[in-house]
Amino acid sequence: MQLEEIKKLFEEEKEKIQSLEDLEKLRQTFLGKKGLISQLFKELKNIDPALRKEFGQKINRLREEVENFIRQKREELQQQLLEEKLRSERVDITLPARIVPPLGSKHPISATIEEIVEIFKQMGFSVETGPEIEKEEYNFDKLNIPKEHPARDMQDTFYVNKPGYLLRTHTSPVQVRTMLKKQPPIQIIAPGRVYRRDDDPTHSPMFFQVEGLVVNENVNFANMMFVLREFLRRFFEAEVPVRFRPSYFPFTEPSAEVDIGCVICQGKGCRVCKGTGWLEVLGAGMVHPNVLQACGIDPDKYQGFAFGLGVDRFAMLKYGIDNIKLFYENDVRFLKQFSSL
Ligand code: DAH
Repeated sequence: MQLEEIKKLFEEEKEKIQSLEDLEKLRQTFLGKKGLISQLFKELKNIDPALRKEFGQKINRLREEVENFIRQKREELQQQLLEEKLRSERVDITLPARIVPPLGSKHPISATIEEIVEIFKQMGFSVETGPEIEKEEYNFDKLNIPKEHPARDMQDTFYVNKPGYLLRTHTSPVQVRTMLKKQPPIQIIAPGRVYRRDDDPTHSPMFFQVEGLVVNENVNFANMMFVLREFLRRFFEAEVPVRFRPSYFPFTEPSAEVDIGCVICQGKGCRVCKGTGWLEVLGAGMVHPNVLQACGIDPDKYQGFAFGLGVDRFAMLKYGIDNIKLFYENDVRFLKQFSSL
């Protein structure tokens, strides 16, 4: 191939270079041992001696040109590669980290208990607690529910192996513990877990109650009505209709059940209130003299009132939930809806 042809070929080929591999091929084609330029040098000896020097210089110039191009192009390509790498491996340190773990939120039952406790604290109550594995004596006997008495059947009990003990069926034994511990004035609430052999859409074998007890001189039924009405007004943040119905509990006399106007249908009658327009939310009454006596408090000097409420019921009404099981399955999709609590 003639020098001019090789020069022309080089001009064409150098425009096509895209990568270091292309460049290496180009180098071999022109500068390799058997490359086009090496071939030209080999032809030098066949050339007329008068022209040889000039021809030699021309080949050398071409070789230098090729070498210079290759050097420059290699640097250029290497620089490009480096920049690409830097770009693709770039870490944007201004982005917020993704490793922040998702935050949990308050369980609606916990939120409801806190709210109930807060309202009663504002009314001067303090908080007491008791064990979930309770003495049968405190859960029943001292609450005026003697052995073999049919009233025990009101609550289906889980008994435990240890004789004389059971899973408390209500928070009322905390009343007993408080009275055994101190003399009036007493003004306490006791939130906590309770257990019963019950299992359907409105009953869970474990649920939450809040118990209340006030004992002092001159405590009467009207005081109780005021406290409970006030509590319901504050909890539901509205003037809900409240009614007291005569009822029976062994540990109170007289006893009442407290209803509120159905918050779902506003008293018109619906599935939740079973068409009555009323929802039962509390049990209450004047502490039975037998209970005061059994706990070491003089019933001739002191009177008291007590009440018990189901936290689940209050949470269901407040948040519009129709199945108690949702509270205990702990499905994150359910719990997430309460993340603002
Ligand atoms: N212990 C009752 C229950 O679990 C609720 C109750 C009713 C508690 C009347 C009381 C009360 O303190 O006076 O069903």
